[in-house]
Amino acid sequence: MAPLTDIPARLSASKEGSWAWQTVKSRLPVILVTVINTLHQEKDQLVEKHGPEGGCQSKATIALLAKLRYEIMTDKPLTRLEDNLPDSKLWNSFLDELYKCEDSPRWFLTPWLYIECLMYRQIVSALHQSKLLSIFDPFAGGKKASWKNSEDAIHSVLGFLNKQTCSPPADIENVKSLVRQFLELSLWGNKCDLSISSGQDNSQTSNPLKQIGQLDEFLLVDDYECLWSQLLQLREKHGGCNSVRIDIILDNAGFELLSDLCLAEVLLTVGMASQIMFHIKSYPWFVSDTTEDDVKYCLSKLQQSDMMLERCQGNAWAARVNEGSFVFRKDEYWTLPHDYAAMREKCPKLYTLLSDSDLLIFKGDLNYRKLLGDREWPCEATFDEALLAFNPAPMLSLRTLKAELCVGLEIGMMEKLTKQDKEWMVSGKYAVIQFTDTVLPLHLPSKADSSGDSRQKVAIQSTVTVIE
Ligand code: F6P
Ligand code: MG
Repeated sequence: MAPLTDIPARLSASKEGSWAWQTVKSRLPVILVTVINTLHQEKDQLVEKHGPEGGCQSKATIALLAKLRYEIMTDKPLTRLEDNLPDSKLWNSFLDELYKCEDSPRWFLTPWLYIECLMYRQIVSALHQSKLLSIFDPFAGGKKASWKNSEDAIHSVLGFLNKQTCSPPADIENVKSLVRQFLELSLWGNKCDLSISSGQDNSQTSNPLKQIGQLDEFLLVDDYECLWSQLLQLREKHGGCNSVRIDIILDNAGFELLSDLCLAEVLLTVGMASQIMFHIKSYPWFVSDTTEDDVKYCLSKLQQSDMMLERCQGNAWAARVNEGSFVFRKDEYWTLPHDYAAMREKCPKLYTLLSDSDLLIFKGDLNYRKLLGDREWPCEATFDEALLAFNPAPMLSLRTLKAELCVGLEIGMMEKLTKQDKEWMVSGKYAVIQFTDTVLPLHLPSKADSSGDSRQKVAIQSTVTVIE
């Protein structure tokens, strides 16, 4: 592990022209305008249902969001949360800590990871302060539209899945290539997020099967061989009738979620695992991240489809949820501002849960940023170095590059890529399949260690979500 003095600074929007700066300057305000417009559209329905009170509450929420947008655009100091949601105390003590370290934490100065998470949490807060809008997902419309636009792609992938899983290959080399194909589908599915496009449609419209094997030149790190060895061990363990759990820390809803479910189905079918635990977000997050409602929407869309293929798969996955081979779980840590290196200290319960897994698959860009602490690591640093001892279990990251950080590159590669394509780090064109089998022993802080830090004493509420 790198000595403390070598740990690089976190990315922030203070550097003009950087991707973080562009995001805070342009993308976040546009996302807020979209949310405000959605609430304007929702207002008539609220008035129809609840009379003038509906109108008053909508206006009050819109005013809070317009204020938030103004504060971001004019780089005002960060403000505390005004709601009474279970995690608001944690958030506010986090903000208090920032005030202790920085004179005046502000939108363009404070680490990008923190303020970007804060914006989404402030949206949740503004909605929650209104009784009628408290559980409203302002991004639901965009996520549903994106599902609709991906329907052809979804049909192709389900057809492929059906064909492969009806008679799974017996020969191990064919199993290896089958898993690889679905891993690639899940990886490139990460292009379909609605945060990078500021909420504009970004669905999978081309045939995703054509991408398989065709995009390898854009893989900057490809640790599939190491992952495969790990999977073989799991297969052996499962064959010996032990239960094997693989966790997928999900990213976006819509086509990406569907591609993740397909990967999970293949892992179960070929005997790599007996259970897949999916981790979802508790709040609408980074526009298109998967919430409980998104999972329900995905399964019900499939189950109610006119197409037999979709209906069968939807029913099969609903049965998996009922029998427990698919488990969906939300933990509030995923929507806190902390990076994952802090999990062991801030949320030992979740760290312990992840330690019980046989393999963790982290999907997408935001998860990658949190794995690396959103720090300016040299591209040649190793994945393990950058994880700063976050090693609860063997771990895989499947991520298309949409932020200015990446580790594990060969010497000279960064310079070569920058010459070829100035946008290589942020366009979503490049990707990594990055794996580590390093596992550090589970050591939870003793009572003595945690005394004096009130944040450690707050129990993290976790719920296992059962989808009917
Ligand atoms: O807002 C920008 C960003 O944080 C980028 O890092 C990335 O483009 C996106 O949001 C989230 O991407 P993903 O859905 O892959 O986590
Ligand atoms: Mg996302």
